[in-house]
Amino acid sequence: MSDIQKVGVIGCGLMGRGIAQVSAASGYETVVREVNEGLLQAGLEAIGKQLNRAVEKGKLEAADRDAALARLIGTVSLEDLADCDIIIEAIVEDIEVKKDLFGALDRQCPENTIFSSNTSSLTVTEMGASTSRPDRFVGLHFFNPVPIMKLVEVVRTGATSDATFDRAFAFARSLGKVPIACTDNSGFVVNRLLVPYMLDAIRAYEEGIGSIEDIDTGMKLGCGYPMGPFILGDFVGLDTLYYIAEIMFDEYREKRFAPPPLLKRMYLAGYHGRKVGKGFYDYSGDEPVVSEFVRR
Ligand code: CAA
Ligand code: NAD
Repeated sequence: MSDIQKVGVIGCGLMGRGIAQVSAASGYETVVREVNEGLLQAGLEAIGKQLNRAVEKGKLEAADRDAALARLIGTVSLEDLADCDIIIEAIVEDIEVKKDLFGALDRQCPENTIFSSNTSSLTVTEMGASTSRPDRFVGLHFFNPVPIMKLVEVVRTGATSDATFDRAFAFARSLGKVPIACTDNSGFVVNRLLVPYMLDAIRAYEEGIGSIEDIDTGMKLGCGYPMGPFILGDFVGLDTLYYIAEIMFDEYREKRFAPPPLLKRMYLAGYHGRKVGKGFYDYSGDEPVVSEFVRR
């Protein structure tokens, strides 16, 4: 364990629920906040299911599941996070929404609370600068699905103090993760390389180079990747991927980061991937099939 005792997670969507689960399972008292009861309950139920599955598979003792669930509190009230030692923000990839949130947290949290963002592509420096504690602000970038993926990118801005960086790094390690140190460039290490690849796959499809299934099969079997780029895009969320591409393009002004027209249209049409049941694939049946939006 690190010197941190109580963890606050903001957002109980795809990422927040995974982070909250891992935090509680690692022995931390954990409070997770959502915007309304419906979304909160959906997130908490998903955590319960994941932990139950781990018990069924013999990977977790039932008593450890119960202890993890007892350490996890869900709330819709930001005030319930006022006494956390570290806050991990995992809400929508929008700088203004994140800055508003950190402003409110800054007013209520004690001086020694570390603030961190799970942002994929936004500038951590900008978020830190919008608070009174840029020296106690880091990026903590987890990967999807959080309970399985070992990596956490720990992002140090020019203003982050050594003590804060070391605490955050030790905290990530205490979650059973492998932390790596990153500078505050848009996309850090992994998304700097992964996002252009995913966008290029969409462009390859737009150019008629192959079908969705063939490009996925090609990259999966040809490179040994666990998922092809379209299944992975659906897994990340095409809304999130679109926001990330816009942000990275704005940062680097290079075409390889620009969202392809098809991605923009899928985002606008609500084809946001696996979390809504449809994206490049339709997930309503037993096996995913290419969705009607991209079927030729
Ligand atoms: N949540 C939690 N656990 C999950 C899960 C989910 N959504 N999906 C699968 N798992 C677990 C399973 O329970 C299983 O656990 P055990 O090994 O303990 O039994 C394990 O993952 C393997 O699952 P499966 O055997 O069912 O399936 P698989 O072998 O195909 O693995 C996968 C699933 C781990 C998701 C694998 O396909 C994979 O690694 N895919 C690539 C994921 C990836 O690249 N993630 C990074 C996305 S980019 C990002 O996160 C950064 C960003 O900012 C956008
Ligand atoms: P998501 O849409 O699944 O979940 C976001 C959740 O945050 C929603 O449930 C929303 O209701 C909630 N929310 C919004 N404003 C809130 C507030 N003020 N307080 C509490 N909850 C609030 O998105 P996600 O995929 O979990 O992504 C969240 C963050 O993590 C983004 O910054 C994203 O870039 C990053 N990220 C995503 C992935 C991925 O693969 N999806 C991987 C790593 C990092």
